[in-house]
Amino acid sequence: MSQENVPAQPPTGVGLDGLRTAAAGCRACELWEGTTQTVFGEGPETARIVFVGEQPGDQEDRRGEPFVGPAGRLLDKALAEAGIDRGDAYITNAVKHFRFTQKGKRRIHQTPGPEHLRACRPWLEAEFAVLQPEVVVCLGATAAKALISPSFRITKERGQLFPWTPPGADTLFAAADDEDAPHQTWMLATTHPSAILRTPDEARDAAYDALVADLRVVAHALA
Ligand code: URA
Repeated sequence: MSQENVPAQPPTGVGLDGLRTAAAGCRACELWEGTTQTVFGEGPETARIVFVGEQPGDQEDRRGEPFVGPAGRLLDKALAEAGIDRGDAYITNAVKHFRFTQKGKRRIHQTPGPEHLRACRPWLEAEFAVLQPEVVVCLGATAAKALISPSFRITKERGQLFPWTPPGADTLFAAADDEDAPHQTWMLATTHPSAILRTPDEARDAAYDALVADLRVVAHALA
């Protein structure tokens, strides 16, 4: 963290719109410098399901919305096939700025480091505090390692729903009145849509079908 970085301090009681506004000026790590904007999560405050990806990509950075590039289009297709309406879900990322290296005119994705995940985490916790989701889906290893365990292996443990406590839930949910008293949150991790796009042709359909199968587990749990 350079000296100009200021730890993220999400305001409370402001809802998702207030958080989004506050996050627009985030300087908790250096990634804001080369990017267009903070890409905050998107979706209704009433969402029962939260998808957490890694970080915005090139198109997301330009448009200011998560999962609107090629990975987002694949996710949309898989959600529709699994019977999940994207409009009912909240979609966000573990890191809210695009990390990349410049190669000529192209911006090449770089995996965020632990320092970026740490710096951005207060925003994710604040999103969970507002949403109090019933199900959280980690899309890919970065989100799963950040939210489940550093030793989590997507290949071995994907597609399984298990009880999970959102980080900081003891204080985050403390203000809930009786009507929305804290409930059990469930977690499931699955492949990142970008990993499917990178899968060799001969194995891509199977990888995609496995993503849809995992999403059907979530749809079933919400039914
Ligand atoms: N990949 C992600 O993890 N998130 C996005 O928003 C886009 C691509």
